Amino acid sequence: MNTEDHHTFARPDMAVMKHLDLDLTVNFDVKTLSGTAGIEIDRQDGSSDIILDTKALDIQEVFAGREGEEALVFNVGNESDHMGSPLTIMLNDDTDYIRIVYETSPEAEALQWLEPVQTAGDQPFLFTQSQAILARSWIPLQDSPGIRFTYSANVQVPENLMALMSAENPMEKSDDGRYSFRMEQPIPAYLMALSVGNLVFESLGDKTGVYAEPQTIEKAAYEFAELDKMLEAAESLYGDYRWDRYDLLVLPPSFPFGGMENPRLTFVTPTILAGDRSLTSLVAHELAHSWSGNLVTNANWNDFWLNEGFTVYFENRIMEEVYGREYSEMLANLSQEDLRGEVDEMKEKGNGADTKLKLDLEGRSPDDGMTSIAYDKGYFFLRYLEESVGRDKFDAFLSDYFNKNAFKTMTTEGFVEYLSENLYRANGLDPDTVAFNAWIYSEGLPETLPSVDSDRFAAVDQAIKDWESGTSPYDLDTKEWSSHEWLYFVRQLPDTMDKKELKQLDEAFGFTSTGNSEVLTAWLVLAIKNNYNDANDRLEDFLVNTGRRKFLVPIYGAMVETEEGKKMAKEIYKKARPNYHFVSTNTLDKMILEQG
Ligand code: BES
Ligand code: ZN
Repeated sequence: MNTEDHHTFARPDMAVMKHLDLDLTVNFDVKTLSGTAGIEIDRQDGSSDIILDTKALDIQEVFAGREGEEALVFNVGNESDHMGSPLTIMLNDDTDYIRIVYETSPEAEALQWLEPVQTAGDQPFLFTQSQAILARSWIPLQDSPGIRFTYSANVQVPENLMALMSAENPMEKSDDGRYSFRMEQPIPAYLMALSVGNLVFESLGDKTGVYAEPQTIEKAAYEFAELDKMLEAAESLYGDYRWDRYDLLVLPPSFPFGGMENPRLTFVTPTILAGDRSLTSLVAHELAHSWSGNLVTNANWNDFWLNEGFTVYFENRIMEEVYGREYSEMLANLSQEDLRGEVDEMKEKGNGADTKLKLDLEGRSPDDGMTSIAYDKGYFFLRYLEESVGRDKFDAFLSDYFNKNAFKTMTTEGFVEYLSENLYRANGLDPDTVAFNAWIYSEGLPETLPSVDSDRFAAVDQAIKDWESGTSPYDLDTKEWSSHEWLYFVRQLPDTMDKKELKQLDEAFGFTSTGNSEVLTAWLVLAIKNNYNDANDRLEDFLVNTGRRKFLVPIYGAMVETEEGKKMAKEIYKKARPNYHFVSTNTLDKMILEQG
């Protein structure tokens, strides 16, 4: 089985890390973490060194043993694009534990240091984002999804702040700013996470709860009240939750993603606090990762769809369980729209090869694989399998898959073999290799793409037709619509409209002032394309105050299409950029600054 990871310098076949002990001080004044990383090593015969990944770390000293002062010789290699620098440490014959004294750079790519004004409560804030290969910018370690380790951490923070990690959390503020953490299940490096801020906790269920700034906690607890139901639904579908507690942490708005499945403590954007629980499928998604991704992990970033496609499928099943099929079919419909749009766009741009499920990211940033292909094509492949063999067989198969492969990694090839054996032959069926290959190794969308029928969206289509043939917006039957219907409505509106039409819809439905970030993004894109300037103030305000890349890319993307828009994009970006995480600026710099 080829588990080779092109995005790490580590040589786990020679020496591999098994456990990590962090002892860190969080220095807000100079924006660094400093301290030691102790690493327990498993060595193969004949190995004389261990190679770790680092990125812009200041490696000061390396010692052998848990306590001793015996210094080891080490070398930090040249920095290469995306990957950072290998740290090679010479080991003595009997060395099975090393201690690395180090400090992070103020520019560490995983870390975002927020000024007090960037938070709800005017306090300093720090959070990490390690996926895909940024853990190495705050910890020297073997940064490959195929390498798992347990960890402990002692973290010193300013006395008034609270620290949280992807681990067993203390749940209460300490008096002296010292916090201790343990993660007893082995995890890959991309799931290492830390956040520090003025945080409070509110319990939601027996083993669920939410952390947020005091100003946000009430809204958050309301929005996520159904978390326990989701966890129950997930367990009833695919087996026990294996991580003990499941809590959420609501971050300030500069968090670059919707959510990040850090084990035991999912990080989420505040842009899902819509006030009506309409965007909580994102929580179902991150929760589902506790099985797909965190338990059974993609062996390398070319197999990213094994993490995300499975998770979108599982997310959809949780939503069906909790809110019914009609609801989950709206989500599936939006997913198929996204998929079709992105496949066309990628082909147009000559990126057809990236529309295969199995990617080839060697020499590129793993970020390039973060497209709708892994998520939505992955989802529809699993849905195709479900529809081919029937839901009962498929569910039994998936439960078993998570169980048998728990705390292990999986490659695409390994999955096809497992699938052929356990879903097909074990049920007396012939694996449909031709169809599997079309999904996984061919570009575009296969003939066997399942179709989605959503009656609720059909009604939206009808409403748009009625409006186009002259019915006043006030006479459309929109009373029962959820935000998903509204999102679909805005997305289905024609690309070219005159300003009067936009104004008429805006007056009737209040799109410019919607609190739903998904609907707002779709609306702003439409406003930009049609020079609807009434939305400009909201546009600027949203861009300056939101760091979620998924929203920023289409909005700035629409702006840079015209000369005038480009000018405006540059002006706003100048103001907004200090509020964005590296993950977002890395994408946006190329779009806005480097385009002349
Ligand atoms: N694990 C991803 C986020 C991620 C992927 C970060 C790759 C870095 C590299 C997370 O589970 C995710 O998919 N988040 C989505 C939300 C989801 C509902 C599609 C997001 O942030 O938009
Ligand atoms: Zn995900």
